[in-house]
Amino acid sequence: MILYYIRNIFRFKKWKILLLIGICVLALRINVILQSLYPSVTQLTELHKCPACYGVSACHNIHKIDLLWNDVNAIISHLFSVKNVFFGTYDQSKVVLKKLAHSSELKALDVTLCNKLHLGYPCSILVPLDRYAPDFYDLIRKTITSDFSQDDTSRLRLCPTLGHLDDLFYNVHLNNKHINPTQYLINLWTLVSINPEPLILQILSAEDGWPVPKYFGACGRIIIEEYIGLPLSDCYDKSWIDRVKIASSLLNAAYMFTFKNKRFSFYLTDISADNIAVDNENVAKFIDLENIIIVDKNISQEDEPKEWQKIHENTMHFDCPNCFAFSSKDICSHHLSDHNYYAICQLLLSSGNENPFPGGFLHDAPTNIEQQYPDIEYLLQQCAIPDYTTSRIFVGQRLKTLLDIILR
Ligand SMILES: Nc1ncnc2c1ncn2[C@@H]1O[C@H](COP(=O)(O)OP(=O)(O)OP(=O)(O)O)[C@@H](O)[C@H]1O
Ligand SMILES: [Mg+2]
Repeated sequence: MILYYIRNIFRFKKWKILLLIGICVLALRINVILQSLYPSVTQLTELHKCPACYGVSACHNIHKIDLLWNDVNAIISHLFSVKNVFFGTYDQSKVVLKKLAHSSELKALDVTLCNKLHLGYPCSILVPLDRYAPDFYDLIRKTITSDFSQDDTSRLRLCPTLGHLDDLFYNVHLNNKHINPTQYLINLWTLVSINPEPLILQILSAEDGWPVPKYFGACGRIIIEEYIGLPLSDCYDKSWIDRVKIASSLLNAAYMFTFKNKRFSFYLTDISADNIAVDNENVAKFIDLENIIIVDKNISQEDEPKEWQKIHENTMHFDCPNCFAFSSKDICSHHLSDHNYYAICQLLLSSGNENPFPGGFLHDAPTNIEQQYPDIEYLLQQCAIPDYTTSRIFVGQRLKTLLDIILR
């Protein structure tokens, strides 16, 4: 009797039932589609990956962030995991959320980690952590000293020795002193392996005047930092005087990264017009700190490489005038390098072919300025490609002084 009844339903109301099932399936799928198009902040954090993550310092506030999806680029970029950089607001200020790597790189990290623990992928590392603590300290040291001849792609490199590693990480240690030490070490290892940007943002903090975004903390596989403004690549058409202000701030940054810290020099090795943003006062800030060489200036005499006391001057422009070529090994074997000036002048300010700005960033100077300050062009050119008798750092500083006189 019941079977007969059900059969009748199916016979006469078949289309209605099919329609109902169809609508239900669609509703479920739409939810899935929407979730992958517009993931929530919590979904982005992947907290279950911790402690192989960037920390949890910002987790208590993360739900207060509103992601901005009003940009089609943001959705496309997320779908294809191009940048893994998201914009949002927190307390009415704009913030940037970064996953710090492309999805494929993050997966490769997870696979490596599981292999190290002799577990199959995907593994959870919430297994007895204490057992691995010393290993992770060792892994961190290995990662930031890897041999140049075998691996020239290491993201953070401390050289020529690791003697002052804990001094370098002092601010980071301080900010994380309440965290379980083993978890902390695994967080550190994850960051030095995938992208050390949050470490650099704490070592060179914006609050201390360094030209970088403020760091607001991490939650799982997401970090949150201050939104600075448009990238330098969008500033080509700003007024000449605005560009002078930006150029002066770039030269100031070259000075700070090289000289401001008494113990270490910081040489940025991925400087480009997209990796610098400009704030609303026309001050340039470095927003992509993934690749950096840190030179310990105070090593013991017996550790000094042969050329240590000399200043490293990048002369690769003689072989390849329009390239951005440098040797990590050379930077590491001198107590001082002109690398930051080289990158800023050669890549951004001068009018070389490799320069993304036709005519250089300071193109189209007003005629009266050219007449009043005929040195500008000469200094720009010498800072990019100095002749044998000129020091690039010295020229860069003269150029900055001249730009500041114009700005007065
Ligand atoms: N703090 C910030 N303020 C303003 N814009 C930012 C900030 N951080 C990143 N951006 C924007 O997002 C873009 C990508 O960020 P970032 O360079 O950190 O990612 P990426 O994936 O490392 O890029 P790539 O590896 O291609 O250089 C930048 O070019 C910039 O336009
Ligand atoms: Mg970048």
